Amino acid sequence: MDIFNLTMNKVFLNLGKQPLANSFLTNVKKKTLDQEFFYNLKICFNTKNFLVSIQKPVNPKKQYTDKYAHRASESKTMRSAFKLVAKKLHKRFKPKKIMEIGSNDGVFLKNFDKKSVIAVEPCKNLAKITKKRFKTYDEFWNLKLSKKIIKQKKEKIDLIFSANTISHIPNLKETFMGINNILSDKGVLVIEDPSLQKVIKNNSYDQFYDEHVYVFSAIAIQNIVKNYGLRLFDVEQISTHGGSNRYYICKNNSKHKNTLRLKHNLISEKFLKLNTIESYKKFAKRVLSSKLRLVKLLRKLKKNNKKIISYGATYKSTTVFNFCKIDTRLIDYVTDTTVNKQGKYTPGMHLKIIAPNEGINNHVDYAFLGAWNFKKEIFQKEKMFLKRGGKFITHVPKVMIIDK
Ligand code: TMP
Repeated sequence: MDIFNLTMNKVFLNLGKQPLANSFLTNVKKKTLDQEFFYNLKICFNTKNFLVSIQKPVNPKKQYTDKYAHRASESKTMRSAFKLVAKKLHKRFKPKKIMEIGSNDGVFLKNFDKKSVIAVEPCKNLAKITKKRFKTYDEFWNLKLSKKIIKQKKEKIDLIFSANTISHIPNLKETFMGINNILSDKGVLVIEDPSLQKVIKNNSYDQFYDEHVYVFSAIAIQNIVKNYGLRLFDVEQISTHGGSNRYYICKNNSKHKNTLRLKHNLISEKFLKLNTIESYKKFAKRVLSSKLRLVKLLRKLKKNNKKIISYGATYKSTTVFNFCKIDTRLIDYVTDTTVNKQGKYTPGMHLKIIAPNEGINNHVDYAFLGAWNFKKEIFQKEKMFLKRGGKFITHVPKVMIIDK
């Protein structure tokens, strides 16, 4: 199956010229800006397998380098979500051998006995962290790597976990062939990725950026994995990253029964017509109107001399800022807790990133929620900002001011 079969792929949304969401700039000198890489972010729908993807994905070697900035353990929400899912999977499947594809800084794997786990992480700076604790392969996941691991370890894997990674890999054929090869007969693959259903419902078009080659639905996952001897038997809706799905996949002949929850999810996706191009065309119209409303609001506030900043130098906000052309004329700077993002500039629109203790001060009137998916955690943390009259702006599920 050719996933990028052009005749099947219908473009429904053009988010314009975009930089790599993770390519924070160390300075804004002309030479640096001249070298900045941009690509066209067009989103398409495959009329055969119902997969939604970027029309022309960026080469992963450009993205997952030894300078990869995202640390999964950075947020309290994610640390506790990974701890919880580790416990849950251990109880449900009792795996002896566990492997994570895209293990980042080991935030999930550290919840298991270190002798039973294998980490796969192509970003060398991250793999360096987990190498201190677990067996780590600092390579891209593919069929060849699965063969190498089987040869070295002489055993198959009972639980393969992969959060926010499978949707990043253009070559799904290699990905699932490798998984089928290394998965034990009774084994389970659990993947977590942003939910297309939530994107469409929440108008969260910023889930589309270079790393999200795909935004999966259960319908599409079911169609794809069956080409590689695998079967989707359960799906769970979870709140991480603004609404994700946790897919449970096994070998075709495995004893795991398809759950009622899977059936219900498939029904609700079909009810939303995620299997027809018309829904995506309507979504594209809503995205355009969201852009117009956001820019109009920011311009109005700026005209009234309000100080607006952005909260969280997220990958998602890279899409919003570059699509809506939001630069220093509308937003003064961005705050972020990640030390290695601080002092840098956001990709494409070049907003300065500073530490929250410096940037969230009494002069700030409005903070755009770049990290809207951590809204709960942020509101908890920023009680003082809200109490003294500070307000948040969000575009999810619609453009609005939050001043509770
Ligand atoms: P992500 O949505 O791509 O995981 O990125 C979230 C970013 O937001 C990450 O760089 C950390 C930052 N952040 C803050 O600056 N303050 C916060 O309170 C939270 C939860 C995240």
